[in-house]
Order: sequence, then C-alpha cells, then structure tokens
Amino acid sequence: MTESASDPALDRALALVRPADLAADARTDEGFLDLIGDREAPRPTAAQHAMNNGFVAAIYENLWRPVGAAAMGVGGLSGESERERAAADLALGGEQRVLDVACGPGNFTHFFGTQLTGDGIAVGLDISRPMLAQAVRRNRGERVAYVRGDARHLPFDDGTFDAVCCYAALYLVPEPLTIVNELIRVLAPGGRIAVMTSYGRGREPVRSALSLVAGTLGVRMFDRDTLPAIFHAAGLTGVRQQFHGLAQFLGAAKP
Ligand SMILES: C[S@@+](CC[C@H](N)C(=O)[O-])C[C@H]1O[C@@H](n2cnc3c(N)ncnc32)[C@H](O)[C@@H]1O
Repeated sequence: MTESASDPALDRALALVRPADLAADARTDEGFLDLIGDREAPRPTAAQHAMNNGFVAAIYENLWRPVGAAAMGVGGLSGESERERAAADLALGGEQRVLDVACGPGNFTHFFGTQLTGDGIAVGLDISRPMLAQAVRRNRGERVAYVRGDARHLPFDDGTFDAVCCYAALYLVPEPLTIVNELIRVLAPGGRIAVMTSYGRGREPVRSALSLVAGTLGVRMFDRDTLPAIFHAAGLTGVRQQFHGLAQFLGAAKP
C-alpha cells in the first residue's frame, strides 16, 4: 500500500484492519484509509447514490440531516442530542475502540472521539469518497480516523470493537441485515451496539402506503420486530428499542 500519512490515529486504525483486507492498492493520501480505491462499489440505491455526491456531502451535516430528521419526526432530538444519546447507549469512555459504520461526514465519529482518552480510537467507516473527504476536512480529531470500506464486509476481525454504532444508514442500503450481522460480528464480548433506522409506524393501509412511497426513494421502512429478533438470535442482551416518529433507536450488549 501507499505510505501512511503521518497521522497516529490513522496508523492505529490501519493496525485494526485484517491483513487480508488490506489490498495492495490501499492508500491513505486523502487523509482516510481507502480500502476500495477505484474498484467497483456495490450498485447503489437512489438514496445511496445521493450520498456519493460532493454537494450532498458538503451540506449533509448542517442541512440534509437536520431536514431528514425533521421529516422522520425525530421530534425534540437535535443532532447534538442524538450524538449524546448514541454515546450514552454505547457507554463510551476511556481507551475503547469504537466503530461508527456508515459514518457519512463524521458527524458522530468526531464526537465519539472526544469521549475517549489515551489510546482510545473512534473509527468512522463509509463507502462514499465525497463523504469521507468531508469528514477529513471537518471532523478530524486526535482519536478519530476514517476508513473507506463496505459495511457488508467489515474489514476487521471478530470482536475488534468495544462499541459499534450505525445511525441513519440501514434504511438506505440493499442488504441491511447483512450489515447488522457484521456490526454484531465485530463487537467484542462486553461491548455495546447502538443502531438508528426507520420505523414504518401506523395502521394498515397507511403503513403499506408509507413503505411504498419510501421504497420509490430507495428507503426501506423497518417494522418493530426485525432488528430486535436479529439481536436476540445473536445472543445480545439488554435489547432496548425506542421509537421517535418514523425512527427507531436500538441498543444492546454482547455478553
Ligand atoms: C445518511 S448517511 C448517515 C451518516 C451518519 N451515520 C448520520 O447518522 O448522520 C448514510 C451513509 O451510509 C453510507 N453507506 C451506504 N452504503 C454503504 C455501505 N455498503 N458501506 C458503508 N457505507 C455505506 C453512505 O455513503 C452515507 O454516507
């Protein structure tokens, strides 16, 4: 791979990547570890396609996400309080290793890094180069590093992280359940997971109509049971689920 930039946090993130996932053409010259390069990324949904756009990446944190959260009726939860909620659900602190999957422009990853001390590190992983370029511009930190990779095949060994977060992404991707299983796989025993995704609330036929409209935009509406069932089947404990408008928040621990 190309020379590592002189960024100790990036070097620490690099050390966590499985050697088999460190392709010969992996590079760090844009300030993040790029494990994909120019190889073909998965065929995106319409919503994913938007995330691969420089303009959307630039306005995501201050405009796109607040508007999206309001549209989902995440009432009363500002971006800041959502971050604090995630950090509390993950019980962040000390020298933990934290993974923020589908981190976008690092709007959560940076905050997670500020919760850590010593050798703690928050790694933000995303597939979009424009999003990660924005993360490096706006959300760098002493204990923060970014990796370009595919959440469907996380490039880390089982049990690498003390905390794993995935907010506002599962409803955009074609294979969300594959990603959920990956989140659980890389979580260490004793670690905590926090997920935020969509919730198709309402009675029939309103719920089906909502799912249909969302589907045309490439957005999947999750029901109440799918994610808790996966968490329970994987043996996670203390599974909690809360609903805010069209969003659901899940937290659990790996025994
Ligand atoms: C709406 S943003 C979420 C950003 C941040 N987590 C938040 O809560 O604001 C969704 C992100 O998922 C990323 N994404 C989509 N498919 C992905 C995949 N297969 N692997 C990694 N990231 C992916 C997109 O590039 C985009 O940055």
